[in-house]
Amino acid sequence: MTAFVRDQWYVAAYGQEIGRELFARTVLGEPLVFYRAETGEVVALADRCVHRRYPLSESRLDGDTIVCGYHGFTYDKVGTCVSVPGQARIPRTARVPAYPVVERDSFVWVWIGAADLADESLIPRAPWLDDPAYTTVCGMEPLAARYLLLVDNLLDLSHETYLHGGYIGTPEVAATPITTEVDEDNGIVYVSRHMDDAACPPFYAKSTGIEGRITRWQDIEYRPPCLYLLHSRIAPVGVLPEEDGSDPNAFHVEVVYAITPETEHSTHDFWAVARDFALDDQGVSDFLAESNRTVVLQDVTALDILEKVIESEPDGYQELSVNIDTGGLAARRILQRMAAAEPARAARV
Ligand code: FES
Ligand SMILES: [Fe+2]
Repeated sequence: MTAFVRDQWYVAAYGQEIGRELFARTVLGEPLVFYRAETGEVVALADRCVHRRYPLSESRLDGDTIVCGYHGFTYDKVGTCVSVPGQARIPRTARVPAYPVVERDSFVWVWIGAADLADESLIPRAPWLDDPAYTTVCGMEPLAARYLLLVDNLLDLSHETYLHGGYIGTPEVAATPITTEVDEDNGIVYVSRHMDDAACPPFYAKSTGIEGRITRWQDIEYRPPCLYLLHSRIAPVGVLPEEDGSDPNAFHVEVVYAITPETEHSTHDFWAVARDFALDDQGVSDFLAESNRTVVLQDVTALDILEKVIESEPDGYQELSVNIDTGGLAARRILQRMAAAEPARAARV
């Protein structure tokens, strides 16, 4: 099994989830507490008091400090203890780890690993989520399955035909071959499926208003470990982008997933759907939010079952892979390489 990939940025929350209340979330097995400081920036600290381990998330915010709810050890924004009860001297080791945090594209990204390696420029982008030219609906579903099962699921969309029939699946998805490209230098997996003449599933028929058959493109871009982008293009059959690259007669939907391991056997499944049409139509927003959540929950149900199957089976079960798995296998290989590379990377520092 692929280990966690550390020394990476992970989506811990949506910005809108973090305010002046203490907020707990576990990422890669590390319990974290988040809050928004009075100046607005997001703070992330280890969610465990150095004294007797009481969760800081069960404590109280006082200005920009957290006062532990058990005996009152008080921590500032960088995790330094600034007050202990009953004595003036504060032990030198009284500090909790602070985690690098960046708020970008509506997400709160947290760096898991050696803090001195955190480099903001490494955060992959999902600019549509924070762009007034798009309207976005989003959510997060807890998954009781290892993150690799979600990676597998998202890299192969042929399952839409079977698991999501009546929502986003039509026969053409599974019937159309994919092309897979791997950018080995940058560790990015691209999987494309272009359907020239396909039935329009309700997800797109009701949101775009297109009647009849469509040209449907699915271009996946997976940036391991956390960010998955599905560039979805829908147009009436035969309508293609213009020669200059513009594409005024198509509908574009950017489907974004952030795949954040919670523990070895559970995952935060962040999903967002950004569209460049019907921007102010609340009915379309409500429909896409409801439909996409339903689709995500269909995956969650299936993957939760798979996790139980895997946990109950003896070691050595041999899966059978076929063409549709090319992207998923490439993703696994890159994740394995990233996980294995870490000790060497850490040793260089
Ligand atoms: S456990 Fe936090 S002050 Fe004692
Ligand atoms: Fe799915």
